[in-house]
Amino acid sequence: MRKETGRIIYILSIIAISLSIYIIKSYHFRASLTDVIILLALALILEAFPVEIPGRQIALSMGFTLSYAGILLFGAPIGILLNGLGSISPEEFNFRLHEPKKFIFNRANLVICAGLAGLLYEILNGPSLDFGWRYFLVALSIALVYWFSNVTLLSLVVSVDKGRRFIGTLAYYISNISIITYLLHFFLALVIAQSYKLLGPVVMPIYIVPIFIARYLFILASEVSRTYDQAISTLIKLLGVFDSYTSSHSLRVAQLAEDIAREMGLSETRIERIRNAALLHDLGKIGLSLNILNKPDKLTKEEWTQIYKHPIVGEDLSKEISRFKEVPLWIRHHHERYNGNGYPDGLRGEYIPIESRIIACADAFDAITTDRPYSKRKGIEEAKIELSKSANSQLDPKVVSALFRVLEKNSSLYNDLKIEKEK
Ligand SMILES: [Fe+2]
Ligand SMILES: [Fe+2]
Repeated sequence: MRKETGRIIYILSIIAISLSIYIIKSYHFRASLTDVIILLALALILEAFPVEIPGRQIALSMGFTLSYAGILLFGAPIGILLNGLGSISPEEFNFRLHEPKKFIFNRANLVICAGLAGLLYEILNGPSLDFGWRYFLVALSIALVYWFSNVTLLSLVVSVDKGRRFIGTLAYYISNISIITYLLHFFLALVIAQSYKLLGPVVMPIYIVPIFIARYLFILASEVSRTYDQAISTLIKLLGVFDSYTSSHSLRVAQLAEDIAREMGLSETRIERIRNAALLHDLGKIGLSLNILNKPDKLTKEEWTQIYKHPIVGEDLSKEISRFKEVPLWIRHHHERYNGNGYPDGLRGEYIPIESRIIACADAFDAITTDRPYSKRKGIEEAKIELSKSANSQLDPKVVSALFRVLEKNSSLYNDLKIEKEK
């Protein structure tokens, strides 16, 4: 974790503590000890079973539905308590996997979210409102405050920690932790709060069932994406058995294409798709003869005809295994040239999808900086000279500039190349 991230977490913790003190001093703690024990216990049980969204490092927990119901029932102080303590999952105590700072951030984040939502609820006189339209609108507005403060704080810390743009990260989290999901939890929390008011805490265990059904539906949806991702990593491994260079090349091109796309300010959702396409870009080589792929001499016309087919074969194969519908097209065009002299369709300039232009640039850089049967690897500076010459003819100059900026930033991935050159 970066130093700046630590500083932000420290500031957020101070805000969370101050907000808690203010709320506890200003508003009544309306819940009884039994209420607190039941709600806290259920929140902790649900928190122990989060749903991971594969490949996105996001885990949605169902525990917050209960914390939110706690705000609706008893106001801001119980909201802070349930969100701060009830959100602790056993996983978080594994400090080998998760830094303690992450634990602190999670508490600070959730206390601030519950604090802001609870504060608004108290200001709007929510705890004493009767159930009706006014109550519904108040409850909805605090759900939105909770959701927005949660994604904002999460994006703030992730963008600082990973050196990404805040707005892009915020857009990514907004699109991945959908507002629809939050609204579903909102309705569930509303039902829980109302029946708790009418029937008391004895009915609470019943709500575990719908919450777990909601969780199961999430898992089903997540499993579909996970299966696709697993299929891709299996294929990359398979590609490695066939030709180890193409497999490791695909992984490097995917990393570099991701970095270039981020440098160019593309959205995180698109970056994820570009990474997917870059991983699969040379899949079409799987049917090619190794003699052609590793031939040190010039290729014959017949051999070039074989090579020309790989983007089309790749497009075809990726239709079956990519969960993103645009990916096959980007793979098809990864050997187009900016001046229109590429293959398979001879597209020119902006007619080539930007995603394919990015993959083409990462592809060219990797080919120059790695040993091939027909050429020795070159260092970063030589590669830059070569790529500058290709800008406008083979490659998009905007993408080449973005690549240079990525190299400037000295990512550890490219440091290896520099060290190699200095030897
Ligand atoms: Fe290729
Ligand atoms: Fe390639």
